[in-house]
Amino acid sequence: MKRTVNFNAGPAALPLPALERARDEFLDFAGSGMSVMEHSHRGKEYEAVHDEAIALVRELLGVPAAYEVLLLQGGATALFAQIPMNFLEKDKTARYVVTGAWGEKALGEAKIVSAMFGASVAVQSLGAGEGKDKKYTRAPAPSAVKVEAADAYLHITSNETIHGVEYGVDPSRAFPDTGAVPLIADMSSDFLWRPFDVTKFGMVYAGAQKNIGPSGVVVAVVSKELLDRGRKDIPKIFQFRTHAENKSLYNTPPTFGVYMVRNVLSWLKGQGGLAGMEKTNRKKAARLYGVIDGNAEFFRSPVERESRSVMNVVFRLPSTELEERFIAEAKKQGMIGLKGHRSVGGIRVSIYNAVPYEWVETLAAFMEAFARSK
Ligand SMILES: Cc1ncc(COP(=O)(O)O)c(C=O)c1O
Repeated sequence: MKRTVNFNAGPAALPLPALERARDEFLDFAGSGMSVMEHSHRGKEYEAVHDEAIALVRELLGVPAAYEVLLLQGGATALFAQIPMNFLEKDKTARYVVTGAWGEKALGEAKIVSAMFGASVAVQSLGAGEGKDKKYTRAPAPSAVKVEAADAYLHITSNETIHGVEYGVDPSRAFPDTGAVPLIADMSSDFLWRPFDVTKFGMVYAGAQKNIGPSGVVVAVVSKELLDRGRKDIPKIFQFRTHAENKSLYNTPPTFGVYMVRNVLSWLKGQGGLAGMEKTNRKKAARLYGVIDGNAEFFRSPVERESRSVMNVVFRLPSTELEERFIAEAKKQGMIGLKGHRSVGGIRVSIYNAVPYEWVETLAAFMEAFARSK
């Protein structure tokens, strides 16, 4: 079988060894005569997988004891609503820095919840997206982000998957320092691509289907102090505390999804952990941005240099006709997933952890040849 060169934005390519391991264990998990999917979530076989997935997140990221690792459902989208439901109190403000389409969605849910709770929401549109055009092109410098004592939390999107805008790739775009106000980040499309300091955050969360597994699982890392402060007057299933108190086994978890996360993280550990992964990821992104900048008369990155994403490389060609041809010709050569999100157009190349450097090299060579031939 020939693997397709897959640049999908999510669900995205998974590491081949993680898939092969699932294939090998599919019918008979740990000699039990059953698939892992057929095991009870309360049985010792599944529990070992569940514990290992959580332990791997802790180990890879160096999560301190003062933080819980939760496995949740409903996608990152459910957490857009669940975060204000848990942490927004009456007369407090939820603050959002919006640098792209996902931040807008998170903000939209917070507005609905705040109206229910008699609280308020403040937004800082610091991604050059002010006004009607919503052309998000940058992450703010830390000094541009302001919080106030009455803020319940500050929410950011560490990597905007559609706009290709990411925090912390360049030191000038480091994560904001919010002091006593908890910083909460949607890291769906850039979780575990490199090490970062968890203690700067009250909470980070990520849908698994980009960097760490299949869809259906959300991994959240939350400080215990923030968990304790969470509201108790919302349904139990929506309280993060419930999942922390029950080791994310309050109700039936997506067992097969968690099993796949285990496989992916165990592969990631073998790649030199997050430090090893960062080296490869930066090399992949540098190769593509190198082609874009080296052929500036043909390719154009809409994102300011310091904010360019290492996970989602977005760019334009001189016309939409050429973009369509680019996508069609790439497909003929076995490369898929290059079409930009329908809301912005252009080209988007998603190069998450599981995308090997060789795939990026194949695409880079194709880009150079395509630019030369036009
Ligand atoms: C940054 C970001 N946040 C949230 C989401 C929504 O995730 P889900 O569809 O799993 O709810 C996505 C999905 O692409 C995303 O890229």
